[in-house]
Amino acid sequence: MLRTVPLLWALWAASVAAIWPLPSSYSHGDSVLWIDPSVRILYNGTQVDSFFSRYPIIQALSGLLSQTLAYSSGSENNGTSGIVSTAIQRTYTTLFDQNFVPWNFHPRNSNFQPGKNGSSIYITSIALQQTAADPATIIKPADGAIDESYSLEMTSSGTVTITAATSIGLAYGLTTLTQLFYKHTDGCIYTPLAPVKITDSPTFPHRGLNMDVARAYYAPSDILRMIDALAYNKMNRLHIHATDSQSWPLQIPSLPLLAAKGAYEAGLSYSPATLASIQDYGALRGVEVYIEIDMPGHTSSIAFGYPDLIAAFNVQPNWDSYAAEPPSGTLKLNSSDVTTFLHTLFADLLPRVAPHTSYFHTGGDEVNANAYTLDETVGTNDTAVLQPLMQAFVDRNHASVRAAGLTPIVWEEMLLQWNLTLGSDVIVQTWQSDEAVAQTVAKGHKALVGNYEFWYLDCGQGQWLDFRPGASSAEYWPYADYCSPRHNWRVMYSYDPLNQVPENLTHLVLGGEAHIWSEQTDPISLDRMVWPRACAAGEVLWSGAKDASGQNRSQITASPRLSEMRERLVARGVMAEPIQMPFCTQNGTQCAL
Ligand SMILES: *[C@@H]1O[C@H](CO)[C@@H](O)[C@H](O)[C@H]1NC(C)=O
Ligand SMILES: *[C@@H]1O[C@H](CO)[C@@H](O)[C@H](O)[C@H]1NC(C)=O
Ligand SMILES: *[C@@H]1O[C@H](CO)[C@@H](O)[C@H](O)[C@H]1NC(C)=O
Ligand SMILES: *[C@@H]1O[C@H](CO)[C@@H](O)[C@H](O)[C@H]1NC(C)=O
Ligand SMILES: *[C@@H]1O[C@H](CO)[C@@H](O)[C@H](O)[C@H]1NC(C)=O
Ligand SMILES: *[C@@H]1O[C@H](CO)[C@@H](O)[C@H](O)[C@H]1NC(C)=O
Ligand SMILES: *[C@@H]1O[C@H](CO)[C@@H](O)[C@H](O)[C@H]1NC(C)=O
Ligand SMILES: *[C@@H]1O[C@H](CO)[C@@H](O)[C@H](O)[C@H]1NC(C)=O
Ligand SMILES: *[C@@H]1O[C@H](CO)[C@@H](O)[C@H](O)[C@H]1NC(C)=O
Repeated sequence: MLRTVPLLWALWAASVAAIWPLPSSYSHGDSVLWIDPSVRILYNGTQVDSFFSRYPIIQALSGLLSQTLAYSSGSENNGTSGIVSTAIQRTYTTLFDQNFVPWNFHPRNSNFQPGKNGSSIYITSIALQQTAADPATIIKPADGAIDESYSLEMTSSGTVTITAATSIGLAYGLTTLTQLFYKHTDGCIYTPLAPVKITDSPTFPHRGLNMDVARAYYAPSDILRMIDALAYNKMNRLHIHATDSQSWPLQIPSLPLLAAKGAYEAGLSYSPATLASIQDYGALRGVEVYIEIDMPGHTSSIAFGYPDLIAAFNVQPNWDSYAAEPPSGTLKLNSSDVTTFLHTLFADLLPRVAPHTSYFHTGGDEVNANAYTLDETVGTNDTAVLQPLMQAFVDRNHASVRAAGLTPIVWEEMLLQWNLTLGSDVIVQTWQSDEAVAQTVAKGHKALVGNYEFWYLDCGQGQWLDFRPGASSAEYWPYADYCSPRHNWRVMYSYDPLNQVPENLTHLVLGGEAHIWSEQTDPISLDRMVWPRACAAGEVLWSGAKDASGQNRSQITASPRLSEMRERLVARGVMAEPIQMPFCTQNGTQCAL
């Protein structure tokens, strides 16, 4: 079936056979199938979607995290049946309500849409077959703990079967299925690609986005929209960088002044119920939401409520001697009050997040030793004095994290700069270099990648600091930021997580995260800052950086697929940027050099 078609049709078909991320194995034909609007989706032979209306609650979610979506623990919607029924519900919405007419992937004014006649074939049911029972941890799996693979078969006669060992695998199969279908201008939904055969599984188990909700505040609906988009890219982790020096938007009932004084403004904080709803929403979509409380640096916002815990708070004007960003400040390093505070914080927060995740991130980046000269509990910047205190600080915190049944994650500096001895369970999130990945795995630790020169989505916006007239302004002109230029999708796509990692240690690279820091990003620009560039990281993590022959993946074939993925994200309400003009997508491969 493949490759027996005339050249023009082949080009046409190639430009629309656009699954993102690319499956491990994928073949398709060129027959048209239509899909019946009342198609039934059967799970293990039973129809489980009947209790959903065709126009479900998804659109109604914005701004509102009410009981309607509180699939709270104890409800019958959690776990396996919740994941599959949510995936089915999403499949209907995506196919019928959030689809798109692919005019911009065909030559202009071409008659690209299939016609209908009496012998047109309609898909009337889709069979989901799960081959094993889900493990109990399906809603908060550790990296690599569950089988994410699936296979999908669609025959020319309209029989569709998705098979997987887990409900997450079935959900991925349904996601892939939706990407085979297009909207006709008459409103009907069709695929031009039958028959289809796909087998698929990810290269890396941890495929995430790190989202900074502290430097800018995001409404819960913004976070849910990111979860939807992540799920649509088969990305499975949302790391919420929940607090930082500039604001503390996380309500901790036993430490009420944290959010009451540390949030930017009353109301700009997440309640325990909201946090649980966000995590639940993610879990049901295969996106595990975990929290970072960055410490001991990046904590100045604690001082708004609990000033005695923070040293070197908001030193001005020379804040840059004490911190990477204003306001300076760090948790005191040898203070029993800080120890007590953290016990209270962990006792409040950890049991609340633990039902929905296996992980907790304790931060540890960019600690400024000089700030401890202003910390009366130590009074020095001598790292020989500070290092054992830092070790004890991290040991205490990680003991709390483990006691709550969670696995600690830290930024690379704790291991590579402070030379701490970390438990063998600790996952190290690297960001500064590929060498850091190599050093981390050489020490036997599991690593997450996300080199800032490739996977920082916020780079290249220019400085957000203001420069005084004269020497300062002259020195920094033309005000590029530290990680400029902006990392376009091609750069992100060219990044290999296994660069510099020896063959016998690659198993320690769990995957990675793209990062959206929020000095110059807020809800208005969020979508276009993240999408579709994060898709590039998503495909590297799912499909691997190299193709089947070991070569770098081709932009020429990725580009039309990513353009189409962008259209699908837009159809789903994510304001993703275009990566090419229609002249290029209409003409296949003419925009290449
Ligand atoms: C899921 O719901 C069942 C009851 O239907 C409950 O026993 C279980 O604890 C819940 N699990 C989670 C993780 O919420
Ligand atoms: C009817 O449509 C199908 C594809 O949708 C096509 O293969 C077939 O040739 C058409 N038959 C007629 C009589 O037009
Ligand atoms: C689906 O079938 C498989 C294999 O028989 C079984 O292990 C699994 O528990 C079933 N799932 C549900 C929700 O019935
Ligand atoms: C410690 O302070 C001294 C004196 O201010 C300074 O010269 C040195 O660079 C500082 N060291 C660190 C690690 O910040
Ligand atoms: C830490 O604090 C204790 C008293 O609380 C003090 O005895 C000890 O010297 C301090 N350590 C350092 C390195 O300053
Ligand atoms: C960690 O080790 C490196 C290399 O031995 C050294 O340069 C650095 O000063 C050490 N850091 C601390 C905090 O002791
Ligand atoms: C493949 O990509 C890497 C970056 O990951 C780059 O260094 C290398 O030059 C590329 N190779 C080719 C043949 O383009
Ligand atoms: C990995 O291979 C290198 C040689 O390339 C060897 O020196 C090293 O001991 C091996 N490490 C492990 C953990 O097997
Ligand atoms: C490019 O677009 C033009 C204008 O629609 C069309 O005539 C031409 O056939 C297209 N070329 C290809 C290779 O698709």
